[in-house]
Amino acid sequence: MPDLNDAAPVALVTGAASGIGAACAALFRERGWRTAGLDLRTSDTDVPVQADVSDAAAVAAAIAQVQEQLGRIDFVVTAAGYYEEGIDVVDITRHQWDRMLAVIVGGTVNVARAVLPGMLERQSGGIVAISSELALGGSATDLHYVAAKGAVLGFIKSLALEVARSGVRVNAVAPGPTDTPLLLADSIWREPEYLATLPLGRLVTPQEIAGAVFYLASEGSQYCGEVISPNAGAVI
Ligand SMILES: NC(=O)c1ccc[n+]([C@@H]2O[C@H](COP(=O)([O-])OP(=O)(O)OC[C@H]3O[C@@H](n4cnc5c(N)ncnc54)[C@H](O)[C@@H]3O)[C@@H](O)[C@H]2O)c1
Repeated sequence: MPDLNDAAPVALVTGAASGIGAACAALFRERGWRTAGLDLRTSDTDVPVQADVSDAAAVAAAIAQVQEQLGRIDFVVTAAGYYEEGIDVVDITRHQWDRMLAVIVGGTVNVARAVLPGMLERQSGGIVAISSELALGGSATDLHYVAAKGAVLGFIKSLALEVARSGVRVNAVAPGPTDTPLLLADSIWREPEYLATLPLGRLVTPQEIAGAVFYLASEGSQYCGEVISPNAGAVI
């Protein structure tokens, strides 16, 4: 077990092995939090656990392990996810729909269900789900991803209402195109012609997304069921 100050709050980050999740875990650690990472792969966190977020039993077991090792979970960031672009809606297969919804929506629900009992018992805690700016502005040729990210917003807003009076704050961050491995080298979101249409003219960095998440975890105590979208002006 890592040698950690057990008075420090605990952040659990899904998708912590890469990109936005890794940047979130690094920022929470830099600010003195203890960190746990839940990912298919190992992560640079105090307690890395490996599980597929779409597998409710595996998520419950992984989160129980984190709670056992770190004592509690104060804040959760659900950043595990993947992306598929360039598919017209009629060409998205049933398997692609099922898998996308299972990971993006199911994964968010599985993690929330596993951490909420401890938070409700302590009457404090917070969850930030990573959605996408595409759920706000719409997007063609990736409808299963966008639909899943939109469903996450409905879930988060409703969960926020359900638990707010219990001292648990639930919000979402909806990033615009962000410079992580999720955007392949030939992604349309990396093309200079697309970047030129953005008011800021560039991709967002994963550290900038982590900053918005950490704000919601620390100073942003007035936010409940909110969607903060750092997106370089893609949706204004
Ligand atoms: N990069 C962007 O442009 C962008 C924009 C908007 C939203 N997002 C969202 O942000 C989140 C993080 O994306 P990223 O850009 O950091 O991508 P990334 O590929 O760098 O990281 C995603 C991480 O999630 C993990 N993961 C994937 N499927 C998993 C599963 N079933 N169970 C457990 N872990 C799983 C991967 O192993 C990986 O470590 C995703 O939900 C993504 O949809 C990304």
